[in-house]
Amino acid sequence: MIVRTATSDDISDIERFAHRAVHDAYDQLIDATYATALLEEWSPDTLAGAIGAGLVCVAEKEHQVVGLVEVGVVDGDPVVRKLEVDPDLRSCRIDSWLLDAAEVVALEHGGVRLLAGHIAAIEDAARFYERAGFAVIGTDAAKDRRLDTVWRARPLFADGEYRTFAEFHEVQKATDWKPLVPALHDAFGTLSRDATVVDVGAGSGLGVVALADATPAEIIALEPDMTMRSMLLARIDGAQILDRVTVHAGAVPDGLALLPDSVDGVLAGHMLGHLNSEERQSLLDWTVEHLRPGGSALFTVSAAANPAAGEPDERRVGRHRYRITHRAPAPDAYESFAEVIDGSETIRTRLSRGVWRRVTADDVRAGIGDRGQFVEPAPGIVLWRA
Ligand SMILES: C[S@@+](CC[C@H](N)C(=O)[O-])C[C@H]1O[C@@H](n2cnc3c(N)ncnc32)[C@H](O)[C@@H]1O
Repeated sequence: MIVRTATSDDISDIERFAHRAVHDAYDQLIDATYATALLEEWSPDTLAGAIGAGLVCVAEKEHQVVGLVEVGVVDGDPVVRKLEVDPDLRSCRIDSWLLDAAEVVALEHGGVRLLAGHIAAIEDAARFYERAGFAVIGTDAAKDRRLDTVWRARPLFADGEYRTFAEFHEVQKATDWKPLVPALHDAFGTLSRDATVVDVGAGSGLGVVALADATPAEIIALEPDMTMRSMLLARIDGAQILDRVTVHAGAVPDGLALLPDSVDGVLAGHMLGHLNSEERQSLLDWTVEHLRPGGSALFTVSAAANPAAGEPDERRVGRHRYRITHRAPAPDAYESFAEVIDGSETIRTRLSRGVWRRVTADDVRAGIGDRGQFVEPAPGIVLWRA
């Protein structure tokens, strides 16, 4: 099975596919007339135009089209259209793969958000878009309420906020893992090769590599941001630990479902501040439920009032100096201003901003509850033993 850009050679196969998929999706739910009307948008002429503009992607299995998505434009925003999957393959996640392809097409179009519309009667579509991070932004009412169009949107680059800052991530002192090494050894040092430790919000892999030094256990990293994951892969390749680190693309809370059912260790370093209180609680609940008895969970928390503010971080990179000034414009926000300096001249800058909530050791204790044993081996570190 592959997902690829459609070509004009696919048109007759797409027509065959569309007839089957659209009737199967709507005949029972609405009626066959509705499906027939929808199929007018799948005429060879309409498809040829969209395919010629590179706006259509198909899923292909054994030389047959088994799924399709088209990207259109509504009021300047790219919109997902015609997302359909072969009825026999609807449980295979092909819809998610097609949605990923639609995002790539949409990025070429530009814009800050990706739209999707579905009729109210299709509850599966509502659940699918909800899970994929699309929030409802409005409804177009129809005479028959089942045919109301529910409009949804999610930011383009849903991958993560570090896209604006990833380049400067390593220069920050905040992500220096050296002071945390003794706690890593203490928490995970006695685990065997058969054990599994998850690193949630693994970022560029600084913690993964420190963890791999501290324990021979298998490591499962969860990281939502594509740029950070790219650095992570390069770092674990460089450290020659590709054979024991698995990388999942996902975020707390939904991404937790990608992790194993039972683990021997949990690491969440420099990431709790990105989570709102419900997301944080789902991570702590997941830890309580999935950490084997005797296992350890290590969280870094905010030791200071707002770690975002403080002295600039500065590092030399070849002929340049990188200086990063952190601000806390609001209690739950950070702003980082990166400068690349050549001699006395700033040759490039980047402003980045996002949410960072203060999370204390007490917040972690309260979220886990009165079970196991808590230790604070150093300021800013909480170790919980299940
Ligand atoms: C400051 S970085 C720390 C990375 C790494 N743990 C470290 O200590 O070097 C925070 C990371 O958390 C990730 N993150 C943000 N929101 C997340 C979420 N909801 N679930 C998982 N990771 C998240 C970010 O993409 C980023 O890579």
